[in-house]
Amino acid sequence: MSRPQDPPRSFFPFGNPFRNISPKGTKLSPQLLAVICAFEASLEERLKNLIPKSKDEVLSFSWMTLAMQALRESHNGIKTLMTDLELPVHDWDEKWIDVYLDISVKLLDICIAFSSELSRLNQGHLLLQCTLHHLSSSSSDQFIRACSLLDGWRQHISSKNPRIEKCGSILDNLVGSSDMPKVKKSDKGKVLMQAIYGVKALTVFVCSVFATAFSGSTKNLMDLDVADVYSWAPTFKGLQNLVNEEIKVRFSNGKFTVLYELEAVDSSVRELYPTIRGVVDVIETESHAKIVDKLGGAAENFSQGLDLLAKEVDGFFQVVMSGRDALLSSLRSGATVNDRILGGNRDAQVVN
Ligand SMILES: *[C@@H]1O[C@H](CO)[C@@H](O)[C@H](O)[C@H]1NC(C)=O
Repeated sequence: MSRPQDPPRSFFPFGNPFRNISPKGTKLSPQLLAVICAFEASLEERLKNLIPKSKDEVLSFSWMTLAMQALRESHNGIKTLMTDLELPVHDWDEKWIDVYLDISVKLLDICIAFSSELSRLNQGHLLLQCTLHHLSSSSSDQFIRACSLLDGWRQHISSKNPRIEKCGSILDNLVGSSDMPKVKKSDKGKVLMQAIYGVKALTVFVCSVFATAFSGSTKNLMDLDVADVYSWAPTFKGLQNLVNEEIKVRFSNGKFTVLYELEAVDSSVRELYPTIRGVVDVIETESHAKIVDKLGGAAENFSQGLDLLAKEVDGFFQVVMSGRDALLSSLRSGATVNDRILGGNRDAQVVN
């Protein structure tokens, strides 16, 4: 993606269908305008929240957790929007349903890939834990085991996850194939599609960054071109630029990974490895103990970060899944989509 001849990818190779509802030329009612403005303002707030305070923060597990949280909240926001719009699913155009289902099934695939990568990394952490356990004893026998465990760690961590390898094509599909449908008759439908567009931009950005981080290659990095008519577009572009540039810089410096906590573990392992492969009496030094402690700390940070991120990915998966289930069951029952998606209002549930 960093090749200069690559033009930025656009959601709309054939023009932007929202041009006619851009803030300038809009004919939406004041109520609908207020709904979409509020939605886009909170989307922009989430984007701003993701602007890293320092470059080190990019692709730390805490930043990634925040990014997943932003996705979960934005997708939840779409559900709330459907309620605010009072747009019953039987009023939905078939194309909007297709868009929603198409996006959500791809996101589920991507979540499954991310979860599988996180549990793969977690298996790596088990190897580290075993290593540290063996290093806590001072017998040379234990050091030999620790050494072979570290070999195992290095092999494990540098192997590829086939699920992650597929993310690139899923993302390409997400950007390319499901163009947002033109909405002519329904103002509420326009608002819904415009909101979904914003959330989709955020989603593709975050997922492409994750896929890049997990695959260890910039081929999944996307530079999305978002039309300037959206209030959140400048913030989006600023964020995307900053994060993508930092990732490219790290890869061009030949880093083995762009994941911050993994890099910390890797550098401790590299420091430790020669000392445990060496002669045993060299090992009984203060500096050796320090290096082991450092690996312990890095492994701890790695593991904690992994856990939090895995929970957040799971939370996002649940939100996408429940939105999808709600839409499908509304379609079957003919009920309004908002009733289903938000579990119905409580009074109505009592009556049912
Ligand atoms: C672990 O994380 C803490 C808090 O972010 C940090 O201060 C510390 O340096 C990290 N430890 C290692 C060994 O990376």
